[in-house]
Amino acid sequence: MSDDHRPANSQHVDPVILPKPGEPLLDTRRRPLRDLRISVTDKCNFRCTYCMPREVFGADYQFMPQSALLTFEEIARVTRAAVQLGVEKIRLTGGEPLLRKKLERLVAMLATLRTPAGKPVELTLTTNGTLLAKMAKGLKEAGLNRVTVSLDALDDDLFERMSDSKVTVATVLEGIDASARVGLPVKINMVVRKGMNDAQVVPMAEHFRHSGHILRFIEFMDVGSTNGWNLAEVVTGAEVLQAIGQRFPVEPVKAGYRGEVASRWRYVDGAGEIGVITSVSQPFCGDCTRARLSPDGKLFLCLFADHGYDLRALMRAENVDDEQLAARMASVWMGRDDHYSELRGHNTKPLHKVEMSYIGG
Ligand code: GTP
Ligand code: 5AD
Ligand code: SF4
Ligand code: SF4
Repeated sequence: MSDDHRPANSQHVDPVILPKPGEPLLDTRRRPLRDLRISVTDKCNFRCTYCMPREVFGADYQFMPQSALLTFEEIARVTRAAVQLGVEKIRLTGGEPLLRKKLERLVAMLATLRTPAGKPVELTLTTNGTLLAKMAKGLKEAGLNRVTVSLDALDDDLFERMSDSKVTVATVLEGIDASARVGLPVKINMVVRKGMNDAQVVPMAEHFRHSGHILRFIEFMDVGSTNGWNLAEVVTGAEVLQAIGQRFPVEPVKAGYRGEVASRWRYVDGAGEIGVITSVSQPFCGDCTRARLSPDGKLFLCLFADHGYDLRALMRAENVDDEQLAARMASVWMGRDDHYSELRGHNTKPLHKVEMSYIGG
């Protein structure tokens, strides 16, 4: 198996010193653990140039074998432990999460989770939308709360080039409509790359005004080491807001909660809400409450980390019980110092950053 784009393993965990009962679990920068992003597969039916360039993820690329993936029961175990430690929001990602067989079964397992205070955990999913038209209903029935769909252009030729696929824009729009019809609130993610799809910013804004869906513009990030990132191709959130504001005036909306990734704006004329995700121009590490679980069960503390903590080995080889699993995860979180986006450009890049398709964004 080719491991070229995957991280080095790490099982080193410091001796377990947990917070006292009733005290919140905080990392070294006093950030609590609130979100768990779970990547359920490293496979995708798209080859977006900024995420899985075909030169690297070609026909002979070795994806993870089924036996390496966490089972749904293992994912649920890790998630239960994370919820005990403070997680209130779970997001399923990939690769393309809807390619994982019987994903509805996992959704149903996770949808029953409650925080220690008895609150339902928010359960959501980020998808490229190609399979949503047929899956939205089952996902909703299984207990999914909402969905985020990636869409980088409305123009078919440009969309085909960016996603490097033959899927049409209409297919993704059908997936979005199907989700809304079954009652799933929808957000749309558009990664903006200068010289590529920046001319689509205003048409996308226009298209989704009055739709009830929140469109978010994402700065192109230097995730992984294969997407040819360069600063000159980043369109900043400020530039996006300026372009949109000239046509449709917008005003800021207060953040929904501490650590929200997108900064929120609404059209002054009441046509709806948009967001900008400015990881490059205005990093938000100070409030980052997110942990990530890879398809093979490694816990990552940052999107830009170069290693993860192997929970699969703990569960399979060391056969730890649920309490020991939670204690190990707590200990890992307490040692966390990650704040990569604040260091970007300071020459402190990890050598072997993980790929987006492996860690799920
Ligand atoms: P909601 O606000 O709950 O809808 O979700 P989200 O924006 O946190 O998740 P989504 O999967 O839609 O991610 C949107 C973009 O933000 C993607 O490009 C992610 O890679 C990026 N993103 C999410 N979390 C982080 C983070 O902690 N750090 C950085 N740098 N980028 C992030
Ligand atoms: N920079 C910014 N966003 C990215 N995504 C994938 N790769 C990148 C990148 N290099 C987005 C996807 C999806 C979300 C999970 O992350 O488009 O919407
Ligand atoms: Fe697939 Fe999403 Fe990556 Fe595009 S951005 S290749 S849809 S995982
Ligand atoms: Fe969190 Fe790392 Fe993103 Fe900063 S760069 S917000 S620490 S995931």
